[in-house]
Amino acid sequence: MATPQDRGHWGSRLGFILAAAGSAIGLGNIWKFPYIAGENGGGIFVFIYLTCIALVGLPIMIAEILIGRSTQKSPVGAFKTLYKPDSPWVGVGWLGVASAFVILSFYSVVAGWSMHYVYLSLKGVFTVYEPGGTEAVFGQLFANPKVNIFWHVLFMGVAISVVIAGVHKGVERWSEILMPVMLGMLLVMFGSALTMSGFQEAVQFVFSPSTENLTRAGVLEALGHSFFTLSLGMGAMITYGSYLRSKDDAIKSSFLIALFDTGVALLACLVLFPITFTYGMEPSAGPGLVFVNLPIAFSKMPGGSMLATIFFALLSFAALTSAMSLLEVATAYFIDERGWRRSKAVLVTGSIIILLGLPSAMSGTTGFFGTGMSESFIGMSWFELFDYLASNWMLPLGGLGIAIFMAWRVGEKARVAAFTAGTTWGRLYFGWIHLLRYLVPIAVLAVFLHAIGVL
Ligand code: TRP
Repeated sequence: MATPQDRGHWGSRLGFILAAAGSAIGLGNIWKFPYIAGENGGGIFVFIYLTCIALVGLPIMIAEILIGRSTQKSPVGAFKTLYKPDSPWVGVGWLGVASAFVILSFYSVVAGWSMHYVYLSLKGVFTVYEPGGTEAVFGQLFANPKVNIFWHVLFMGVAISVVIAGVHKGVERWSEILMPVMLGMLLVMFGSALTMSGFQEAVQFVFSPSTENLTRAGVLEALGHSFFTLSLGMGAMITYGSYLRSKDDAIKSSFLIALFDTGVALLACLVLFPITFTYGMEPSAGPGLVFVNLPIAFSKMPGGSMLATIFFALLSFAALTSAMSLLEVATAYFIDERGWRRSKAVLVTGSIIILLGLPSAMSGTTGFFGTGMSESFIGMSWFELFDYLASNWMLPLGGLGIAIFMAWRVGEKARVAAFTAGTTWGRLYFGWIHLLRYLVPIAVLAVFLHAIGVL
């Protein structure tokens, strides 16, 4: 068994915040949030999402970080420590580790697309506009398993080499470099979006609530996404919290991480939608928004090729810091519970994830198993299916488990002590525990019932 001393710790609170924000800010913010907001009509969806972040996501994030900090363990070990090793609660930890594998397997494929687009931008593919050109580019990429597998393996290789170096020397150090660079690039993009004629329309689209396009599925998606974007429900924040020391402020950090994450998601919308509207495209383009629509705009813009390179590089960096956290959860399980060396744990989990990602990397291929893989079950491609299962079911279920456990199973005294340790914001306890006890479980349950058509 690894002792707490050799698990590693963050070097500073800023390092932790950057790493955790790095986990939170990812494809979810820049690729997914704008397109689901676009599909669900903008403003009202954004509003529901912000509410979910504040009232559901944030309380769970605090719970996760506190569980990690007080047990100094990743999810499975944390539940064993806090409860009994054979209790069903440990299942919440298991679900978390399983989610890490599922999510990273498709996440890495999408991150691979982003890296491929950096390469294409550098090659100057997006310098001339041709009608239908970018669709063809994306279509070719999607249908080419070799290229997908190449980037998927390369991306995982980079994530593996960072995580293998450890919490402090790998994850934290790289987050401290990549996060400011990523933010700087986003601000450059925002600066250019500000000058576009579609900026006004974009602001209106993102911020003016109209209930027109709101559906039940949209509400489920907003809640599911608030888990996904904050990296909640699978113990990523338990794991990152476990590398904190007990005197480190968990409450203020949680607020900062959530604020940072939400800020970037909104900023990403204010980069993407001005471009979308200026060049007369549809905001509801779906998953292809950044890979199909955006390159059209880049190819029409002065300096578009450079902006394209910057944009896809920032997307790849954001994906990398998130992938690091997903890999860390799976890795920490083997280190904490199986006593493996870090290098072995990272290489084994990384390899499994590479294999698990192959069907997603081949999503666009037809003829596999006799049917089009893209039509696997219920009309979804593999990566859509994995995404749907993880974001809409596994993460909310895990989050529900974490909330109920923290709010109803942990003793009051221990909980108050954990909450107030190291923070000057201890008076928020009352609000936090009430949200966690009542609102969080009710919201998640209601959305589940909605999803299966009961409510
Ligand atoms: N939050 C990341 C994003 O928005 C994805 C992510 C990283 C994640 N780690 C996670 C999602 C853990 C759920 C759980 O892209």
